[in-house]
Amino acid sequence: MSQPRKVAVVVGSLRKDSFTRKVARAIEALAPKTLSFEEVPIGDLPLYDQDSEAQPPQAYVDFRNRIRAADAVLFATPEYNRSVPGGLKNAIDVGSRPYGQSSWDGKPAAVVSVSPGAIGAFGANHHLRQSLVFLNMPVLQQPEAYVGNAANLFNEKGEVANEGTAEFLRSIAAAFAAWIDKVLAEEGA
Ligand code: FNR
Repeated sequence: MSQPRKVAVVVGSLRKDSFTRKVARAIEALAPKTLSFEEVPIGDLPLYDQDSEAQPPQAYVDFRNRIRAADAVLFATPEYNRSVPGGLKNAIDVGSRPYGQSSWDGKPAAVVSVSPGAIGAFGANHHLRQSLVFLNMPVLQQPEAYVGNAANLFNEKGEVANEGTAEFLRSIAAAFAAWIDKVLAEEGA
């Protein structure tokens, strides 16, 4: 088998017991072995300041390099006030610069939104997709992943508690793997 595709996982929650991170971990566990996953943390990135590009903070440099080294990006986001948390938007802005050298450019992506509520963070999911259009990231369209009722999906070990949810997350992971192959094949990668 050729090397697995490297997927950078960007989680929009900084919370220790984040439901969103649990969903991301579940997708990783259920994904085909053609993918390998690594979370790229966003919590230590200083608020984006365009003036700092003359001498960017090391945290920006490291984040950009880690995204650049990935074949694809899985975004897992909660919803704050019907949009993405500010920390995730900050990470997107950091990765998009310096101008003309965006780390995100052309990378296949998937968006999974997560909420304890019923709507599955639909608002955050689509606000995020708006930025990804501008960043030239081909995003998996179907199946869409709005994960609601997130407080009741996991057992005490943090595993997905029912087979229906596991099957859904498995289908997302499988579709993402196929999408990554398709996009990278078109790019000759
Ligand atoms: C929320 N929450 C929330 N939930 C939702 O479905 N739609 C929303 O617009 C909001 N808005 C919102 C704003 C702020 C500032 C906070 C702190 C929370 C609730 C949110 O879904 C809940 O806290 C989740 O647990 C956050 O995801 P993690 O941290 O568990 O991954």
